[in-house]
Amino acid sequence: MKRSIINNHIRDAKEFIAQMQFALPPFAYWSPEEWKTRGSEYNEIRENQLGWDLTDFGSGDYDRLGLFLFTIRNGSFKNPSGKTYAEKLLIVKPGQVTPWHYHNSKMEDIINRGGGGTLKIQLYRSLDEHSLDEKSDVPVSVDGRNYTVKAGTVVSLGTGESITLQQGVFHQFWSDDAALLLGEVSMVNDDHKDNFFLEERGRFPGIEEDEKPLHLLVGDYEKYR
Ligand SMILES: [Fe+2]
Repeated sequence: MKRSIINNHIRDAKEFIAQMQFALPPFAYWSPEEWKTRGSEYNEIRENQLGWDLTDFGSGDYDRLGLFLFTIRNGSFKNPSGKTYAEKLLIVKPGQVTPWHYHNSKMEDIINRGGGGTLKIQLYRSLDEHSLDEKSDVPVSVDGRNYTVKAGTVVSLGTGESITLQQGVFHQFWSDDAALLLGEVSMVNDDHKDNFFLEERGRFPGIEEDEKPLHLLVGDYEKYR
């Protein structure tokens, strides 16, 4: 993905997040030059991969298969005495799908925080890493209501609603009708080790440096210290 395209997505996201009246932490706005002046006291941001993140899941078609993210807080699998929780913002554009995956370690809540549309999230239990369980009902927890749905059910979440996703439950999600600001509140998040995609997918895009970064992505920190 070209850096100029990534910069444009970050500009759009900053505008959308401001419209939704959600405030990001100060490190969201640091320039690459400012990052070079930040010492080891900020290593939690670098090591736990806080900050800007986007993915086309290796599709080359971000508008169809992609997700924009900002990790606000996170712990690390390497530090059991650190934070045990994580929080992210996600932006889903209409027609843009986050493809089938589950997590082995992380339980997560996905929250429709704003944008006015409906989040669609489809669920199956997993038989293994590469197969959906087509037969078994799926346990669902939506804002304190615990029930089961048939395999493959699409759960709709309006503004303010949220769902808890247990480990091992395959999920894909999208919006048909509006750009959505989603929250994710979860256990420690490790996008390098804990995403099990049904089909072979990439998580972090290769970047063609056709202009300077507006802000660093989580994968850029090592180059700017
Ligand atoms: Fe997930």
